Formats: sequence, C-alpha cells, structure tokens
Amino acid sequence: MTKTSDRKREEERYSRRLGRHLDELKWLYMELYDSQEHWEELLAAMKQFAMQRKSSLKKLDETREQDPGWYRSSGMLGMMLYVDQFAGTLKGVQEKLDYIRRCRVNYLHLMPLLESPKGRSDGGYAVADFRKVQENLGTMEDLERLAAACHRRGISLCLDFVMNHTSEDHAWARRARQGEKEYQDRYFFFDSREEPDEYEKTVPQVFPATAPGNFTYLPERDQYVMTTFYPYQWDLNYRNPVVFNEMMYNFLFLANQGIDVLRIDAVPYIWKERGTNCRNLPQVHTIVRMMRMIGEIVCPGILLLGEVVMEPDKVAPYFGTVEKPECHMLYNVTTMATTWHTAAVRDVRLLKRQMEILSGLPSEYTFLNYLRCHDDIGWGLDYDLLERWGYRQVPHKKYLNDYFTGKWEGSVSRGELYNEDLVTGDARFCGTTASMCGVEKAGFEGDAEGMKAALKRDEMLHAFMLFLSGIPVLYSGDEIGQVNDYTYKDDPDKAPDSRYIHRGAFHWELTRKIGEPGTVQQVIFSALSRLEQARAEEPAFDAGAAFRALETGDDGVLGLERQLGKQQIRGFFNFSGEDKRIFLEPGTRWANLLTGEELEGENLLDNHGFYWLKLLQRGEKQ
Ligand code: GLC
Repeated sequence: MTKTSDRKREEERYSRRLGRHLDELKWLYMELYDSQEHWEELLAAMKQFAMQRKSSLKKLDETREQDPGWYRSSGMLGMMLYVDQFAGTLKGVQEKLDYIRRCRVNYLHLMPLLESPKGRSDGGYAVADFRKVQENLGTMEDLERLAAACHRRGISLCLDFVMNHTSEDHAWARRARQGEKEYQDRYFFFDSREEPDEYEKTVPQVFPATAPGNFTYLPERDQYVMTTFYPYQWDLNYRNPVVFNEMMYNFLFLANQGIDVLRIDAVPYIWKERGTNCRNLPQVHTIVRMMRMIGEIVCPGILLLGEVVMEPDKVAPYFGTVEKPECHMLYNVTTMATTWHTAAVRDVRLLKRQMEILSGLPSEYTFLNYLRCHDDIGWGLDYDLLERWGYRQVPHKKYLNDYFTGKWEGSVSRGELYNEDLVTGDARFCGTTASMCGVEKAGFEGDAEGMKAALKRDEMLHAFMLFLSGIPVLYSGDEIGQVNDYTYKDDPDKAPDSRYIHRGAFHWELTRKIGEPGTVQQVIFSALSRLEQARAEEPAFDAGAAFRALETGDDGVLGLERQLGKQQIRGFFNFSGEDKRIFLEPGTRWANLLTGEELEGENLLDNHGFYWLKLLQRGEKQ
C-alpha cells in the first residue's frame, strides 16, 4: 500500500474516533474555558500527536480497540518499583525483564522518573520537565526502548502523570518567580495572606508534619504561592486553558513514548475553589472525562489509572458512568486499609461489608488491588459503621498505629508513623508487607515458630488480595518478603519522610534463595506463584464473574464466592488469630485449587490459613 493511502486510512480512523466524542468534548471544554482559540489549538495538537504515534503503537491501539476489556483478564499481574532501587537505570530494568517475567508480572509501574530536583523531589513527584528523564536513570530514548522491550514480552508499562503541580524548578515556575504574569497565572499567586488565609479555613493539610499549610511565601517576590503538598510542589491552575492544553500535550507525549497506563497522580486535588476543601470538586470530573476522551481519540490503547486516595464514597465516582467513563482503573484503597485493619482487630465484619459494596459495582469498574505501595497507609475506613460497633475514629486510629508499630502487646508488626498531626492526633503508617506480618521481628529474634506464622499471614493476605476482581499489584520486594529498610535515616534528603522505610534497595542477593527450600524467599515466592497460576487458569477468576461475600457464621473468618456460569469458587480467610472450622454444604464436594485435595463437610482452617476451593459437585438442593 502506498504512503498516501496509508495516511488516508489513518486520518479516517482518527476522524471516526474524534467524531465519537467531539460534541461532548467541545461542550465540556467550552463550559470550563469558553475559548474558541484554545479549543482549536487543542484539536490541532491532538491530531498531530495521533499522526506522530509510532506504527507499533498504532497497531497496539487497534488490537486493544477491538478488545477493550484487555486489561481485565485474570492473568494480569502488576508490580510497582523504583528504577534506581531495583536496577539502577532504565537500561538496568530492561536487563532484568526476565526476573519480572519470572514473577509472572505483565503490568509494570515504574515510579516517577522524570526530571526532578534532588532533595526537593518528593520521590520524583515534583516534576521539573515532563519530557526529560532524570539523568541518573537514563534518557527518553531508554524509556522508549524499555517500553518496546516490555511490549515484546507482553508487559504493559505504567508511568505517573503528576498533573496537580510542577516542581518549583519547572520552566513555568522559574518564569513565574521572575514575576512574569503570564506564568504566575499558571499557578495560584497571591500578593497578601488574605486569600490564602481564607483557603486555609476550609482546606485540610496533606503533610501536616512534614509540610504544614497549603501556601508558601516567596520572599524574593513578597508573594504567596499555593503548595498543597511540599513547598517546592506548586499547584497548577486548571482554570487557565493554557495549563490544561499544555498538560494534555505532556500526557500525549508520554503516551507516544509507549506508556500504556498513565497513573494520574493526586487527581482529586486538581481544582481549587475558595470556601471548599479543594478535593473532588465537580470540575475535577470534567477534566478527567476530557482526558479520557482525548486519550480515546489520540491513543485509544492507553489506560487512565486514577490515584484517588480518599474516603470510601469518594473513590468510585472517578470511574464516571458506564456511558461516560472517566478512569479505566482505580486503586482499591479502601479495601487495602480495611484489610490491615482486619488483620489488627481480627474481626472481618468491616471487610465483609467492603466486599458487599464491591460486589454491587458494575464489573466494568476495574480496581488495582494491593497490600502495600510506595505511600503510607492512611486509615480511611468506614467510621460511621465502625462507630456502631463501638470503634471510635481517633482512638481506633491510635490503636492501629500502636498495633502496627509493634507497641501493642502481642503485635508482631514493625514500622513507623507518618505525618503525625500533634493537633488532631492523626497519623498514618509506613512499613513493608513482610514487616507488618512479623517477618522482620521473627527474623531478628531468630524465632522459627514466629517466622512460620508470619509467612502464613503474609501468604493469606496475598491470597485474599488475589481472590478479588481487578488487577493485583505487588510492591517490588514483597515477592521475596523484604523487610523495612532503616538506612533512609542516614540520608538527610530522605530522613524526614518515613515513607522511605519501605522504599529501600531491592536485595538481588536474596533472589538467589528463591530456589532454596525453607527460606523466607522461597516460601513467599513459590506461594505467590501458585496463587497467580491458579488465578490465571481458573475461569471463575474472570472479571465478569459474580462475586459475593458469604455468611461464615464467624466474625474471624471471611468467606467469598465467585461464580461464572456453572463454575464456582470460594475463598475462606482466617483473620481470627486461632484455628477455626469451615462448613461446606452437605452433599457438596470441593477441590483445593492449590493442592488438588478434595474436601467436603467440616474442615479445619488453621490460624492464618486460607482455602481457595472449587466446586466439584453440587449438593442436592443446589
Ligand atoms: C501522590 C503520590 C505521593 C506524592 C503525592 C504528591 O499521592 O502517591 O507519593 O507525595 O502524590 O505528588
């Protein structure tokens, strides 16, 4: 086929995609910005990005358009990691792709890697240049090559798109600091404390201990700039169409490097309005909806992953509606926090309630399930419900923090508090999965029994996470039970931020023990492999399967069921801290999905144990 006819076909495809969304996109854009000039500029740029997309990516777009649910397969398994801690550089990560595949991972989230000033980077979340990779990690070409290498192995790549703010070193921020009005208008600049003080009355603090307040004074200008996160992270002003357009170009630029999933960082914060808490405002949803459409028009193979770390009822709205979707995927943050709460209180009622809520959502809503990530655990639980059972918010958070820092009698967890707010008494928690499960304590004390229990707990929590619909995501190091890393305290740039306790270097030497029976690494790695394989092979793990919480008759045991056509599986998870029994309906026969062993009637579910069962034979009345 000739080049011109190729181009013609491409243009036709583009027009078809544009046609599908044009009315709605224009409507929303005009509602927000009312500027024909900026609208036309955006449209022209979108087309350019679409035409510049590499042919391999266009092919991927086409395949994925034909199979829009491609990312919902039960064979999806994610991992998130820091490039420098894992393999030094992007090239290093490329060399380690065999290990990534050995972990069965086919969705790889690389933590922020774009240009960011050392010591003022918030782990890379203060971006100074959206089109440049941090020098120590490599170049944009390395990233492109890595993305291509991942695609060859069937791995999708996820990258953060930090859109709420830029670094104070970003070219715009520098010019704003010089006093250029045009650039100051891309942020929130104020000449006096008056307006900032008004905002402070209603806007909570993200980092009350490490970065109090939401504004930063710039002495050289005698002005204030809005900084919701750290003082060096300047909030972008999305009331300005230039900000929206330019940030969309950055987003499309990254998509064109071969990034499959864009994690839109801190998205609930992107619209600010005086007199509100500046979180989850309606305009945020307009912007995300526009991003979704822009993505579907320009690069339909890519996905939006929303980082919405909010109280339970604020999260699902970021999926939009089935007709007008916003994010493709969201973090299952409530389940994550509720899981750890359950591990501490040994009472599954809240987790069961959370499972009932999930089971009521459309199956198109895809969650990323995880036990740990790079951030702290904020105790975002359903306190209205907890209060009814006698747990009060402030003392309960204190209990959870005491429990997980190991202060509570009987707790085997290790970790540190994060951003303790001395005024409200609030605090969050940091630590790795293994340390929270007791691996660190038992290892340190040479306690073999304790280690056995810790590994069982670790496996049970993963088994629960892997039983859920959505994409399970491992935090790098968890697959070999890495414990907390206290060396961050020696680095003055990291010392004040305890999240670095779980952002330590990956210990490659420990991966050698994966093959040595009885080691922590072998026990966890092989347990995970078995679970992942069963998940990938068993039809009832399909995202479209019906999912429900079971009545186990025991507040210490969580029971779940998945059903797809005639296929039925059940999971039982013992959080109680003691041996329990489960009862299978008379006449039914089940197979343990991991061992093949057949079960019926009454069975022992030992302390920290779990079952994944498949129905072999129905009872008479079933
Ligand atoms: C997100 C990131 C977190 C970062 C914050 C500010 O919440 O997960 O690590 O500190 O955004 O960008």
